[in-house]
Amino acid sequence: MIIHPYNPQIFQQIVEHLRAGEVVAIPTETVYGLAADAKNPEAIKKIFHLKERPFDNPIIVHLPDQESMEQWGKNIPEYAWELAKAFWPGPLTLIIPKADSVLNLLTADQASVGVRVPAHPIALAILQAFDGGLAAPSANPFTRISPTQSSHVAEYFGEELWIVEGGPSEVGLESTIVDCTGKYPVILRHGVITEEDILEKINGSLALLKTSTAKHPGQHKRHYAPQTPIQLLDQEALSALCQKLTSLDKQQMGLIALTPSLQNLYFKKSKILPRDSKSYGASLYSALHELDAEGAQIILIEMPPDLPEWRAVREKLFKAQGERSVPDL
Ligand code: TXA
Ligand code: MG
Repeated sequence: MIIHPYNPQIFQQIVEHLRAGEVVAIPTETVYGLAADAKNPEAIKKIFHLKERPFDNPIIVHLPDQESMEQWGKNIPEYAWELAKAFWPGPLTLIIPKADSVLNLLTADQASVGVRVPAHPIALAILQAFDGGLAAPSANPFTRISPTQSSHVAEYFGEELWIVEGGPSEVGLESTIVDCTGKYPVILRHGVITEEDILEKINGSLALLKTSTAKHPGQHKRHYAPQTPIQLLDQEALSALCQKLTSLDKQQMGLIALTPSLQNLYFKKSKILPRDSKSYGASLYSALHELDAEGAQIILIEMPPDLPEWRAVREKLFKAQGERSVPDL
Protein backbone atom coordinates (compact mmCIF):
# COMPACT_ATOMS: atom_id res chain seq x y z
CA MET A 1 0.00 0.00 0.00
CA ILE A 2 1.53 3.32 -1.09
CA ILE A 3 1.01 6.05 1.51
CA HIS A 4 1.27 9.79 0.93
CA PRO A 5 2.73 11.16 4.18
CA TYR A 6 1.78 14.83 3.96
CA ASN A 7 -1.30 14.67 6.17
CA PRO A 8 -0.12 14.98 9.82
CA GLN A 9 -2.44 12.22 11.03
CA ILE A 10 -1.21 9.81 8.41
CA PHE A 11 2.38 10.81 9.19
CA GLN A 12 1.72 10.01 12.85
CA GLN A 13 0.28 6.60 11.90
CA ILE A 14 3.48 5.77 10.03
CA VAL A 15 5.55 6.61 13.10
CA GLU A 16 3.20 4.57 15.36
CA HIS A 17 3.41 1.61 12.99
CA LEU A 18 7.21 1.70 13.33
CA ARG A 19 6.95 2.03 17.12
CA ALA A 20 4.68 -1.02 17.14
CA GLY A 21 7.50 -3.05 15.59
CA GLU A 22 6.19 -3.14 12.03
CA VAL A 23 8.19 -2.75 8.84
CA VAL A 24 7.59 0.34 6.68
CA ALA A 25 9.27 1.05 3.34
CA ILE A 26 10.66 4.58 3.37
CA PRO A 27 12.16 6.76 0.66
CA THR A 28 15.79 7.85 0.95
CA GLU A 29 17.92 9.88 -1.44
CA THR A 30 19.84 6.72 -2.45
CA VAL A 31 17.22 3.96 -2.74
CA TYR A 32 14.05 3.02 -0.84
CA GLY A 33 14.68 1.15 2.42
CA LEU A 34 12.73 -1.43 4.46
CA ALA A 35 12.72 0.30 7.85
CA ALA A 36 12.02 -1.03 11.34
CA ASP A 37 12.94 -0.19 14.94
CA ALA A 38 16.66 -0.98 15.25
CA LYS A 39 16.26 -1.76 18.97
CA ASN A 40 13.46 -4.29 18.50
CA PRO A 41 14.66 -7.82 17.62
CA GLU A 42 11.23 -8.97 16.43
CA ALA A 43 10.98 -5.98 14.10
CA ILE A 44 14.46 -6.67 12.70
CA LYS A 45 13.57 -10.32 12.11
CA LYS A 46 10.60 -9.18 10.03
CA ILE A 47 12.99 -7.31 7.71
CA PHE A 48 15.18 -10.40 7.27
CA HIS A 49 12.13 -12.54 6.51
CA LEU A 50 10.57 -10.07 4.09
CA LYS A 51 13.82 -9.69 2.17
CA GLU A 52 14.67 -13.40 2.47
CA ARG A 53 18.05 -12.12 3.54
CA PRO A 54 20.48 -14.50 5.26
CA PHE A 55 21.06 -13.65 8.92
CA ASP A 56 24.81 -13.35 8.33
CA ASN A 57 24.32 -10.14 6.34
CA PRO A 58 24.21 -7.13 8.71
CA ILE A 59 21.72 -4.26 8.39
CA ILE A 60 22.63 -0.58 8.62
CA VAL A 61 20.95 1.86 11.02
CA HIS A 62 19.51 5.21 9.92
CA LEU A 63 19.85 8.04 12.41
CA PRO A 64 18.09 11.40 12.74
CA ASP A 65 21.32 13.39 13.26
CA GLN A 66 25.11 13.17 13.58
CA GLU A 67 25.16 13.32 17.37
CA SER A 68 23.16 10.07 17.61
CA MET A 69 26.20 8.20 16.28
CA GLU A 70 27.58 8.43 19.83
CA GLN A 71 24.84 6.08 21.11
CA TRP A 72 25.49 3.38 18.51
CA GLY A 73 29.27 3.25 18.56
CA LYS A 74 32.24 3.19 20.91
CA ASN A 75 35.83 4.32 20.38
CA ILE A 76 34.67 6.06 17.22
CA PRO A 77 37.76 7.37 15.41
CA GLU A 78 38.09 11.10 14.90
CA TYR A 79 38.10 10.72 11.12
CA ALA A 80 34.63 9.10 11.29
CA TRP A 81 33.29 12.24 12.99
CA GLU A 82 34.96 14.36 10.30
CA LEU A 83 33.29 12.32 7.59
CA ALA A 84 29.93 12.52 9.34
CA LYS A 85 30.29 16.27 9.65
CA ALA A 86 31.28 16.63 6.00
CA PHE A 87 28.69 14.36 4.37
CA TRP A 88 25.64 13.90 6.64
CA PRO A 89 22.81 14.06 5.94
CA GLY A 90 23.88 12.28 2.78
CA PRO A 91 24.68 9.08 0.89
CA LEU A 92 27.47 7.82 3.14
CA THR A 93 27.38 4.86 5.54
CA LEU A 94 30.03 4.63 8.24
CA ILE A 95 30.92 1.26 9.76
CA ILE A 96 31.98 1.95 13.36
CA PRO A 97 32.85 -0.27 16.35
CA LYS A 98 29.45 -1.02 17.87
CA ALA A 99 28.23 -0.02 21.31
CA ASP A 100 27.53 -3.00 23.59
CA SER A 101 23.80 -2.29 23.50
CA VAL A 102 23.53 -2.76 19.70
CA LEU A 103 21.77 -6.03 18.90
CA ASN A 104 23.91 -8.82 17.47
CA LEU A 105 21.00 -9.77 15.26
CA LEU A 106 21.37 -6.42 13.50
CA THR A 107 25.13 -6.67 13.02
CA ALA A 108 25.26 -10.39 12.20
CA ASP A 109 27.45 -10.90 15.27
CA GLN A 110 30.09 -8.52 13.98
CA ALA A 111 31.70 -6.08 16.40
CA SER A 112 30.76 -3.17 14.14
CA VAL A 113 27.59 -1.41 13.05
CA GLY A 114 26.78 0.61 9.93
CA VAL A 115 25.15 4.02 10.48
CA ARG A 116 23.97 6.81 8.22
CA VAL A 117 21.86 10.00 8.32
CA PRO A 118 19.85 10.05 5.07
CA ALA A 119 19.23 13.31 3.23
CA HIS A 120 15.66 12.68 2.07
CA PRO A 121 13.35 15.15 3.89
CA ILE A 122 10.64 12.52 4.49
CA ALA A 123 13.13 9.97 5.85
CA LEU A 124 14.57 12.65 8.15
CA ALA A 125 11.14 13.75 9.33
CA ILE A 126 10.20 10.14 10.14
CA LEU A 127 13.50 9.56 11.98
CA GLN A 128 13.11 12.74 14.00
CA ALA A 129 9.53 11.90 14.97
CA PHE A 130 10.46 8.28 15.71
CA ASP A 131 13.32 9.62 17.78
CA GLY A 132 15.61 6.63 17.42
CA GLY A 133 17.48 4.44 14.97
CA LEU A 134 15.74 2.70 12.09
CA ALA A 135 17.33 -0.41 10.66
CA ALA A 136 16.90 -0.28 6.89
CA PRO A 137 18.40 -2.31 4.09
CA SER A 138 17.41 -1.55 0.51
CA ALA A 139 13.76 -2.49 -0.09
CA ASN A 140 14.33 -5.37 -2.50
CA PRO A 141 14.29 -9.12 -2.06
CA PHE A 142 17.79 -10.49 -1.51
CA THR A 143 19.98 -10.23 -4.65
CA ARG A 144 17.42 -8.23 -6.66
CA ILE A 145 17.80 -4.64 -7.95
CA SER A 146 17.35 -1.87 -5.38
CA PRO A 147 14.16 0.19 -5.75
CA THR A 148 14.36 3.86 -6.67
CA GLN A 149 10.58 4.38 -6.88
CA SER A 150 7.68 3.43 -4.63
CA SER A 151 6.22 1.37 -7.49
CA HIS A 152 9.34 -0.84 -7.55
CA VAL A 153 8.81 -1.65 -3.86
CA ALA A 154 5.11 -2.36 -4.45
CA GLU A 155 6.01 -4.75 -7.30
CA TYR A 156 8.35 -6.64 -4.99
CA PHE A 157 6.27 -6.82 -1.83
CA GLY A 158 2.65 -6.28 -2.85
CA GLU A 159 -0.25 -4.60 -1.11
CA GLU A 160 0.41 -5.63 2.49
CA LEU A 161 3.51 -3.54 3.08
CA TRP A 162 3.21 0.14 4.00
CA ILE A 163 5.26 2.10 1.47
CA VAL A 164 5.82 5.81 2.09
CA GLU A 165 5.76 7.79 -1.16
CA GLY A 166 8.80 10.02 -1.55
CA GLY A 167 9.18 10.38 -5.31
CA PRO A 168 12.08 8.96 -7.31
CA SER A 169 15.33 8.62 -5.34
CA GLU A 170 17.58 11.50 -6.29
CA VAL A 171 20.90 9.66 -6.13
CA GLY A 172 19.55 6.30 -7.32
CA LEU A 173 22.58 4.25 -6.19
CA GLU A 174 23.25 2.86 -2.70
CA SER A 175 25.36 4.90 -0.27
CA THR A 176 29.14 4.78 -0.25
CA ILE A 177 30.22 2.53 2.64
CA VAL A 178 33.36 3.38 4.59
CA ASP A 179 34.81 1.04 7.18
CA CYS A 180 35.85 3.21 10.14
CA THR A 181 36.90 0.43 12.50
CA GLY A 182 40.62 0.70 11.83
CA LYS A 183 43.32 3.33 11.87
CA TYR A 184 42.43 4.38 8.33
CA PRO A 185 39.11 4.55 6.51
CA VAL A 186 38.49 1.87 3.89
CA ILE A 187 35.88 2.05 1.16
CA LEU A 188 33.77 -1.11 1.11
CA ARG A 189 31.19 0.00 -1.44
CA HIS A 190 31.52 2.79 -3.99
CA GLY A 191 28.81 5.40 -4.33
CA VAL A 192 28.40 9.02 -5.41
CA ILE A 193 30.65 10.16 -2.58
CA THR A 194 33.99 9.15 -4.06
CA GLU A 195 37.38 8.20 -2.69
CA GLU A 196 38.60 11.63 -3.81
CA ASP A 197 35.79 13.39 -1.89
CA ILE A 198 36.70 11.43 1.23
CA LEU A 199 40.44 12.03 0.98
CA GLU A 200 39.80 15.73 0.58
CA LYS A 201 37.86 15.85 3.85
CA ILE A 202 40.43 13.97 5.86
CA ASN A 203 43.36 16.06 4.70
CA GLY A 204 44.31 13.76 1.87
CA SER A 205 47.16 12.44 3.98
CA LEU A 206 45.58 9.15 4.98
CA ALA A 207 45.93 6.25 2.61
CA LEU A 208 42.71 4.46 1.74
CA LEU A 209 43.57 0.82 2.19
CA LYS A 210 42.22 -1.62 -0.32
CA THR A 211 41.53 -4.51 2.02
CA SER A 212 39.38 -4.69 5.07
CA THR A 213 38.96 -6.99 8.04
CA ALA A 214 35.23 -6.27 8.12
CA LYS A 215 33.05 -8.60 6.12
CA HIS A 216 32.63 -7.22 2.65
CA PRO A 217 29.16 -6.03 1.74
CA GLY A 218 27.65 -7.30 -1.44
CA GLN A 219 29.86 -10.38 -1.64
CA HIS A 220 27.13 -12.44 -3.13
CA LYS A 221 27.14 -13.23 -6.79
CA ARG A 222 24.72 -11.13 -8.86
CA HIS A 223 24.14 -8.82 -5.96
CA TYR A 224 22.20 -6.11 -7.79
CA ALA A 225 20.93 -8.37 -10.47
CA PRO A 226 17.89 -8.25 -12.67
CA GLN A 227 16.53 -11.66 -13.56
CA THR A 228 17.43 -11.24 -17.23
CA PRO A 229 21.10 -12.01 -17.97
CA ILE A 230 23.27 -8.99 -18.66
CA GLN A 231 26.13 -8.54 -21.10
CA LEU A 232 28.42 -5.55 -20.63
CA LEU A 233 30.26 -4.30 -23.72
CA ASP A 234 32.36 -1.25 -24.48
CA GLN A 235 31.12 1.07 -27.20
CA GLU A 236 33.21 -0.47 -29.95
CA ALA A 237 32.25 -4.04 -29.18
CA LEU A 238 28.61 -3.09 -28.82
CA SER A 239 28.57 -1.23 -32.16
CA ALA A 240 30.19 -4.19 -33.88
CA LEU A 241 27.71 -6.59 -32.31
CA CYS A 242 24.73 -4.42 -33.19
CA GLN A 243 25.79 -4.48 -36.84
CA LYS A 244 26.07 -8.25 -36.84
CA LEU A 245 22.76 -8.96 -35.16
CA THR A 246 19.69 -9.52 -37.26
CA SER A 247 16.46 -7.71 -36.44
CA LEU A 248 15.09 -11.08 -35.31
CA ASP A 249 17.97 -11.42 -32.79
CA LYS A 250 17.38 -7.91 -31.54
CA GLN A 251 13.72 -8.60 -30.91
CA GLN A 252 14.82 -10.94 -28.12
CA MET A 253 17.15 -8.37 -26.56
CA GLY A 254 17.09 -5.27 -24.40
CA LEU A 255 19.62 -2.47 -24.67
CA ILE A 256 20.90 0.20 -22.28
CA ALA A 257 23.35 2.51 -24.02
CA LEU A 258 25.03 5.89 -23.86
CA THR A 259 25.46 6.25 -27.60
CA PRO A 260 22.18 7.40 -29.16
CA SER A 261 22.98 5.94 -32.59
CA LEU A 262 22.87 2.42 -31.11
CA GLN A 263 19.20 2.72 -30.34
CA ASN A 264 16.98 1.23 -32.98
CA LEU A 265 13.48 0.01 -33.41
CA TYR A 266 14.27 -3.68 -33.50
CA PHE A 267 15.29 -4.13 -29.88
CA LYS A 268 12.54 -5.43 -27.61
CA LYS A 269 13.21 -2.32 -25.57
CA SER A 270 16.11 0.12 -25.60
CA LYS A 271 17.06 3.03 -23.38
CA ILE A 272 19.65 5.74 -23.87
CA LEU A 273 20.88 7.02 -20.51
CA PRO A 274 22.55 10.39 -19.83
CA ARG A 275 26.29 10.81 -20.38
CA ASP A 276 26.69 12.56 -17.07
CA SER A 277 27.55 9.99 -14.38
CA LYS A 278 25.27 11.45 -11.68
CA SER A 279 22.19 11.58 -13.93
CA TYR A 280 23.06 8.13 -15.26
CA GLY A 281 23.30 6.79 -11.69
CA ALA A 282 19.91 8.28 -10.87
CA SER A 283 18.24 6.51 -13.80
CA LEU A 284 20.11 3.19 -13.99
CA TYR A 285 17.99 1.08 -11.60
CA SER A 286 14.73 2.37 -13.09
CA ALA A 287 15.99 1.41 -16.53
CA LEU A 288 17.00 -2.05 -15.27
CA HIS A 289 13.60 -2.53 -13.60
CA GLU A 290 11.86 -1.55 -16.83
CA LEU A 291 13.96 -3.74 -19.08
CA ASP A 292 13.83 -6.67 -16.71
CA ALA A 293 10.02 -6.61 -16.94
CA GLU A 294 10.20 -7.09 -20.72
CA GLY A 295 11.28 -10.72 -20.43
CA ALA A 296 14.09 -10.39 -22.98
CA GLN A 297 16.67 -13.16 -23.28
CA ILE A 298 19.50 -10.77 -22.53
CA ILE A 299 20.11 -7.09 -21.81
CA LEU A 300 23.09 -5.56 -23.62
CA ILE A 301 24.66 -2.67 -21.73
CA GLU A 302 27.19 -0.18 -23.06
CA MET A 303 29.87 0.12 -20.40
CA PRO A 304 30.55 3.72 -19.32
CA PRO A 305 34.20 4.86 -19.45
CA ASP A 306 36.74 3.77 -16.86
CA LEU A 307 36.96 7.15 -15.12
CA PRO A 308 36.73 8.00 -11.39
CA GLU A 309 33.28 9.59 -11.64
CA TRP A 310 31.89 6.37 -13.16
CA ARG A 311 33.35 4.05 -10.53
CA ALA A 312 30.14 3.53 -8.54
CA VAL A 313 28.07 2.91 -11.66
CA ARG A 314 30.65 0.50 -13.09
CA GLU A 315 30.75 -1.41 -9.80
CA LYS A 316 26.96 -1.88 -9.90
CA LEU A 317 27.08 -2.96 -13.55
CA PHE A 318 29.80 -5.55 -12.95
CA LYS A 319 27.80 -6.92 -10.05
CA ALA A 320 24.61 -6.98 -12.11
CA GLN A 321 26.44 -8.99 -14.74
CA GLY A 322 27.29 -11.46 -12.02
CA GLU A 323 30.97 -11.09 -11.41
CA ARG A 324 31.97 -12.38 -8.03
CA SER A 325 35.16 -10.43 -7.85
CA VAL A 326 34.69 -6.99 -9.27
CA PRO A 327 37.81 -5.65 -11.02
CA ASP A 328 39.74 -3.12 -9.00
CA LEU A 329 37.60 -0.02 -9.41
O1 TXA B 1 21.96 3.68 0.46
C1 TXA B 1 21.89 2.78 1.28
O2 TXA B 1 22.85 2.47 2.01
C2 TXA B 1 20.55 2.04 1.41
C3 TXA B 1 19.51 3.00 1.96
C4 TXA B 1 18.19 2.32 2.23
O3 TXA B 1 20.02 3.65 3.08
N1 TXA B 1 20.71 0.89 2.23
C5 TXA B 1 21.39 -0.20 1.82
O4 TXA B 1 21.39 -1.23 2.74
O5 TXA B 1 21.94 -0.26 0.74
P1 TXA B 1 21.77 -2.73 2.30
O6 TXA B 1 21.53 -3.58 3.49
O7 TXA B 1 21.01 -3.10 1.08
O8 TXA B 1 23.30 -2.64 2.03
C6 TXA B 1 24.16 -2.37 3.11
C7 TXA B 1 25.41 -3.18 2.97
C8 TXA B 1 25.17 -4.68 2.98
O9 TXA B 1 25.87 -5.26 1.91
C9 TXA B 1 25.75 -5.14 4.31
O10 TXA B 1 26.37 -6.40 4.20
C10 TXA B 1 26.76 -4.06 4.62
O11 TXA B 1 26.19 -2.89 4.11
N2 TXA B 1 26.97 -3.89 6.06
C11 TXA B 1 26.06 -3.56 6.99
N3 TXA B 1 26.60 -3.54 8.22
C12 TXA B 1 27.91 -3.84 8.06
C13 TXA B 1 29.02 -4.00 8.95
N4 TXA B 1 28.87 -3.84 10.26
N5 TXA B 1 30.21 -4.32 8.43
C14 TXA B 1 30.38 -4.49 7.09
N6 TXA B 1 29.37 -4.37 6.19
C15 TXA B 1 28.15 -4.05 6.67
MG1 MG C 1 20.83 -3.87 -0.75
